[in-house]
Amino acid sequence: MGSEDDPFTGGSIDAARRRLAHEFRRGGLDAPELDARIIVGHALGLDHTALAAQSSRMLAAEEAGAIAALSARRLKREPVARILGRKEFWGLPLKVNAETLLPRPETETVVEAALAALDCEHRKSRALRIVDLGTGSGALLLALLSELPSAFGIGTDISFAALRCAHDNAAALGLSARASFVACDYGTALREPVDILVSNPPYVARADIAGLQAEVRDFDPRRALDGGPDGLDGYRAIAPHAARLLAPDGILVLELGQGQLGPVTAILAAAGLTPVAPRYDLAGIARALVLRALP
Ligand SMILES: C[S@@+](CC[C@H](N)C(=O)[O-])C[C@H]1O[C@@H](n2cnc3c(N)ncnc32)[C@H](O)[C@@H]1O
Repeated sequence: MGSEDDPFTGGSIDAARRRLAHEFRRGGLDAPELDARIIVGHALGLDHTALAAQSSRMLAAEEAGAIAALSARRLKREPVARILGRKEFWGLPLKVNAETLLPRPETETVVEAALAALDCEHRKSRALRIVDLGTGSGALLLALLSELPSAFGIGTDISFAALRCAHDNAAALGLSARASFVACDYGTALREPVDILVSNPPYVARADIAGLQAEVRDFDPRRALDGGPDGLDGYRAIAPHAARLLAPDGILVLELGQGQLGPVTAILAAAGLTPVAPRYDLAGIARALVLRALP
């Protein structure tokens, strides 16, 4: 059996999983059983079924070491998706890295709002031009391209590492021919009119970052979170680009932080954009705002 330094060697896979779940529970993690199962499976390269089938097999020393190393990372609050290096968004498996935000389920509200705001009959057939400002892993752009087979789009970001990740995700999903990526400050490098402009800008008020849960505060990139003193700097920066780039019948869809519907509507209205409707996430928070250019 394992020692204090190496608690897993010589024990079974199932014993390691149970021990990990116990440590995670003691460490105050939200989903100790699930995290333990995923981490043991990842360390051993086994999926859920193989893990169950091999549960009584004894661990070799290097396998035990791999489990111990990943478990230490999780106990320091690194999210499971960062340990795995992937996260699902809109049913798409996306690679993530240290410079990309982990795509959030509530961001799917932006995709839903954009699709709902399009002309339903024609949306699948039109060669719509999509832009995603601050694309990160490419989540929003790639989700929209996956739904709109004749559309093409551009994702921008100020992080080269994020853009490389988005580019790789587009390739892995077979969407490269319709997706390109540009390093620039929001929309500064773009000139052509856009039919669907989406963005999930950094929107946490700077002073609130210290109070976020450790998984977010310590592992999501700061520039994906920090929305300036009041959390609204990203919207102020995006507003003139939206006013300049939106095609006459184009739509702008923005993700919102909690309580930002009023202030973001005011910022965009001052730039000449009219709010159509907010869309609410599963928690009942106004999460996406659809706007159009004034005729
Ligand atoms: C909240 S994250 C959103 C990432 C991705 N769109 C998503 O929803 O998962 C914001 C993104 O904006 C990028 N960003 C921050 N400031 C920017 C700027 N001035 N110009 C372009 N991108 C920026 C960050 O690097 C980050 O990838």
